[in-house]
Amino acid sequence: MNETTTKPESWTAALARDGATIAPSLLAADFANLEREVRRLEAGGAKVLHVDVMDGRLVPNISVGVPVVASLRKVTDLKLDVHLMIVEPEKYLEAFRNAGADSLSIHIEAAPNPTPLLRRVRELGAAPGLVLDLGTPVERVLPFVDEADILLTMSVQAGFGGQKFCPQALDVVRKLRSVARPDALIEIDGGIDPTTIAAAAEAGANLFVAGTGVFKADDYGERLALLKRLALEARGGNS
Ligand code: DX5
Ligand code: ZN
Repeated sequence: MNETTTKPESWTAALARDGATIAPSLLAADFANLEREVRRLEAGGAKVLHVDVMDGRLVPNISVGVPVVASLRKVTDLKLDVHLMIVEPEKYLEAFRNAGADSLSIHIEAAPNPTPLLRRVRELGAAPGLVLDLGTPVERVLPFVDEADILLTMSVQAGFGGQKFCPQALDVVRKLRSVARPDALIEIDGGIDPTTIAAAAEAGANLFVAGTGVFKADDYGERLALLKRLALEARGGNS
């Protein structure tokens, strides 16, 4: 009958229903021991791993690429949330999807008309995400919000971990939450820790990237649970 009611729920929609998900950012992990880090996150209850791909061109830093995503895929079933901070993202969508990415998020600054790319990501079987960097007007992404399952707001300037959370991102989160489909994830990335997560959750975020906010903790599981509790409390039971 109605096609939308018979489609199985996507993993992003399931997480959106869950209210608050913490996505540890690999950038702050011990790169000499990635499998061990993944195991510690899994044991601590993580469901999503955020992987930052940087090319030294869109952002002034270089991180990891396709082989690291493929290696992670071999050792874990965690959802791999791949944040593409690269120019010409259209050239690499297929390679990252083949490597095992579960979502591919594209910066509006790298693709001013992202519709064909977001559709391509969906065709490839991954969740399409649209990102805006700190300082980019939210109006730039508004025409495309229906094409994305993930709307990602930077709360620091993209490129480096360990920066201070910028509260100006909260207005962007509020705006995106008000226009996004209810089953879309509103993701926030940068400076998320126990002192900042409540404000982000209150504004409407439900997927929280945390690099140093998780990896600097002695017990990842405890930290993940604390961050999730603070986010859910701030949302006051609303999803
Ligand atoms: C920065 C990256 C972030 C980074 C966040 O450009 O997109 O994902 O790892 O690191 P923290 O949580 O330390 O700010
Ligand atoms: Zn990121």
